[in-house]
Order: sequence, then structure tokens, then C-alpha cells
Amino acid sequence: MSVAAACALSQQEQLQLQPPVKAMRRGSRQSPEGGEEEEEPPPEPPAWDREMTFCTERRRREPQPQARREPAAAAGTAGEEEEERLEREHFRRIINAFRYYGTNMHEKVNRTERHFRSLPVNQQKLLPQFLVHLEKIRKCIDHNQGILQTIVNDCTHMFENKEYGDDENGKISPASTFDMDKLKSTLKQFVRDWSETGKSERDSCYQPIINEIVKNFPKERRDLSKVNVLVPGAGLGRLAWEIAMLGYTCQGNEWSLFMLFSSNFVLNRCCETNSYKLYPWIHQFSNNKRSADQIQPVYFPDVDPHSLPPGANFSMTAGDFQEIYCESNIWDCIATCFFIDTAHNVIDYIDTIWKILKPGGIWINLGPLLYHFENLANELSIELSYEDIKNVILQYGFHIEMENESILTTYTVNELSMMKYYYECVMFVVRKPESSI
Ligand SMILES: C[S@@+](CC[C@H](N)C(=O)[O-])C[C@H]1O[C@@H](n2cnc3c(N)ncnc32)[C@H](O)[C@@H]1O
Repeated sequence: MSVAAACALSQQEQLQLQPPVKAMRRGSRQSPEGGEEEEEPPPEPPAWDREMTFCTERRRREPQPQARREPAAAAGTAGEEEEERLEREHFRRIINAFRYYGTNMHEKVNRTERHFRSLPVNQQKLLPQFLVHLEKIRKCIDHNQGILQTIVNDCTHMFENKEYGDDENGKISPASTFDMDKLKSTLKQFVRDWSETGKSERDSCYQPIINEIVKNFPKERRDLSKVNVLVPGAGLGRLAWEIAMLGYTCQGNEWSLFMLFSSNFVLNRCCETNSYKLYPWIHQFSNNKRSADQIQPVYFPDVDPHSLPPGANFSMTAGDFQEIYCESNIWDCIATCFFIDTAHNVIDYIDTIWKILKPGGIWINLGPLLYHFENLANELSIELSYEDIKNVILQYGFHIEMENESILTTYTVNELSMMKYYYECVMFVVRKPESSI
């Protein structure tokens, strides 16, 4: 399938479909409307440039296990230049991972073939379809690689406020297993966020959050466009997009470039429902009931991401949630889904949420406590029980308005697999009292 041809909207059509946006420059603090705090907003972009906004405030990069610790940046311009260099290096590393996927996966399939061929011939003859199946996987790898290539072709200019420039060298080098795993997880995130297959997962994870937003900010009593909702750790953006679909002003925030490149592709380049497909399960060689299960395609997007209503206010910011949201008393609602366990120290997340919520604002959380840094050497990781987290939340002064300790969900589950993980998630809605300053 020609990836470019699948999104053949005319510029005029794109104009009608895109929500109005405001640009934001690097270095400014974001407001929920995507505007700037201290500087005059730049002029509106020409109509045909209007897209769902991606702005970057990235400073801190995702850690790499076994990676050399980067020296603390020196103060002043030299420090900033060094930061800039490291950021560009990181950007290229992630692009390289996208490009290396095919090589990495073909190596795996070649190894599987070698192992099969090492079996006695009489055993090989028992499985006449084995090599045929590997050939099919190879085709699926090439297809996935085509999509990944298209995603990164577009990403050097994706941020409104920063240009990364094209990589003239273009040489592909081996990527780390850590990055390859992240890329494979990102492919599965397409299923969760933007496919029909992911609907039941979204119904169990996103819908309870959306229901609470609607209950707390009913359209009969509020001008929804004036209710500012922030979704930190937005993944591929579906939850934030659904909230904006309802008329709320919503900003997704994400720091992983794997996710950001991919959400830029879905949100700004995919317009026809189910016009793309991926093979997200080909990396799984174990726990397949049938060989065909491994090469099941998943189609996306299940909805047209451009179908936001006119006047909808939706944007994405790139960067570490704790670093870029510093302004106090801004958000009416913060919605975290499978997010708080990404913290080195979850108390820092609670602290930021407390600070940036308006008095009277609410924090809705749903997710497990699978601490992301637990097993990473050289990374601080404070693993609190829910009981401890709840005590901290109460000591900050939040009022608990809703709590359910037993919401059964999955995360990027492969329904066909013989092995599935279930989470018994905690969900809560807590309010920062009106009286708090
Ligand atoms: C487990 S995923 C959940 C994604 C999405 N909320 C969902 O439910 O599908 C956690 C996400 O948070 C992002 N993340 C982790 N730490 C972050 C931080 N400090 N700031 C912003 N995003 C972060 C990760 O990159 C990842 O995409």
C-alpha cells in the first residue's frame, strides 16, 4: 500500500478538518490553550499549515540502561549548547531505531530458520509449513518497516517550535535491545489507541476517566471549551483526543520520541479510517495457538483523527511532565492513565499535580503501580504501595471523591495469545479544595 496515497486530502479539505491552533516557541511555558505566557503569540500559520499542534520543551531524555551517565550540563550558554547537542543526538538515535527495526527483525527470523534447518530432516518434514510461515513473517516485517519509515520521514519538522533538520548521513546503525523493545511496544500502542481491536481495552481504561470528566464538568453547567484538561504521559494521544472530541480544551503531554513520532503520524497524517495496517504480534514467537495468529494484521485508525469538531482545542507537548508544567493553578482537571508509576519518585508527580491544579480542580487517576525504574541500574526509584500514595495525597490536602481499587484492565494485550497480563487497577478522583492557595 502506498502510505502517502492513503492520506490524499486536499489542502482545502485539511483546512476544514483541522482545529485552530496557536503556535508555541521553545523556551516559553505553555498555557492550556497552547499559547504563551510572556510573549505575544506569533501570527496564525497559513491555513494549509494547520495541524494538531506538537510543541517541544524537551530537556531530560529517557534513560538507557547501561548507558554512560551524561555529565551534568554546565551553567550558561555552553551548558545549553551541550544540552542541545545531546537532544539532537537522542533524536537521531530514536530515528535510527525506527530504521533499524527491519534489520533487527530479519536477524531474528533468520536465526529461527537456522535453528529449524539444524533439525534432522525427518523432523523438518513433519512441518512443511514452517518455512512458508517464516516467509510470511518476513513480508510482515517489511510492511511494518514501511510504516515506520513513513513515520520518521515526517518527524524532523513535526514540532512547531523546533527544527531538527534532516540527517544527511542517513546511515543505519544497530540499535540497542532496549530501544528495539520500546519500538515494538509502540507498535502495540497503535492497537490500544487507534484500532477497533483496542476498543475493549479503551473501554476499560479510558472510558471510566472520561465518565468522571463528564460528570464533574457537565455541559449543562460549563462552557466546555473553558475547562482545561491535561493528560500527562499521553502515549499515542487517544485519551486526550477523546476528551477534546467532547469539547473540552485538552493537552496531551509525552516525553518519549517513540510515542511522539507515532502520534504525530496518526494525528496529522492519517485521515481515512482503517487505511493503514500493522502486524503488531509478529515479534511474539511464544504462546501462539495458531501460526496465523502471529501474522494477524491490525488496521488503524479506527476513527478519523481529524474529525474533531470545529473549534476543538487539542494539542500535544513534548517533554518531561514535571519539568514543563510549572505554572500554578492552571488546570481544571488532570487525567493520568497508566502514568504515575513512570515516576522516579511518585511524590514529585503528586507535588506537581497539586501545584498546577486550580483550587477546586480534580485529578483523575487510573492505573497499576508497575514502577518503570524499579529494575534500572543507576536510576532512582521509589516504589510506594497504593496505601502510601493515598496517605501522601491526603497529607497534601486533596479530598478523595471517588475510589475503586479493583478495575480490571489490560495493557496492549494480544487477545489471541496464550499468555495475557491483567491489572487490577486503582482508580480515584481527588479534588484540590477551593480554599487552597
Ligand atoms: C504506560 S504508558 C501509558 C500511555 C497512555 N496513558 C495509556 O494509557 O495508554 C506511560 C507513558 O508515559 C510516558 N512518560 C513517562 N514519563 C513521563 C514524563 N516524565 N513526562 C511525560 N511523559 C512520560 C511514557 O513515555 C509512556 O508513553
